[in-house]
Amino acid sequence: MIIPWKDEYSLGIASIDTQHKKLIGTINTLGDTLLTGSKKSDIDTAIAQMETYMKEHFFFEEEYFKTLQYDGTAEHITEHQVFLDKTKDFRTRALDEEDAMLSIEILGYLEEWFLHHVLVVDRQYVSDFQAHGIN
Ligand SMILES: [Fe+2]
Ligand SMILES: [Fe+2]
Repeated sequence: MIIPWKDEYSLGIASIDTQHKKLIGTINTLGDTLLTGSKKSDIDTAIAQMETYMKEHFFFEEEYFKTLQYDGTAEHITEHQVFLDKTKDFRTRALDEEDAMLSIEILGYLEEWFLHHVLVVDRQYVSDFQAHGIN
C-alpha cells in the first residue's frame, strides 16, 4: 500500500469516490509490484491494469463533461491525456530499463498526479455535477 484512502479525498459523489478508491488500489498494486523486484512481465501487467482502469474512469468523467457542457472540459481532458502519455512512456521504459530509480520515479509521479488531480482538478467539477443530480 502506497497511498492510503483518506476521507478528505472524497468529492461527495458516490460513483466517482468509488472509482477513485479503485484507482488508488490499482496504483498501490503497481507499487507493490515495483517495490518487490517483480519480473518485467508482472510490472507490465500491473501498469496495463492501472492504465485500463484509468481510461475507463476518465471516459466516465468525460462523458458527463460532454452531457453537462462543463466549462473546464478541454483543460481537464488534457490533464487526463498527459497522464496517459506519461503512463505509456513508463510502460515502455519499465520493459527496457533495469533501474530502481525508475520505480521510484513512477511511484512518485503517480502519487503526485493522483492527489493533485483528485484534490484540485476533479474537485472543480463537483458543484456542476451535483447541480445536475449526479451521484
Ligand atoms: Fe479527472
Ligand atoms: Fe477522477
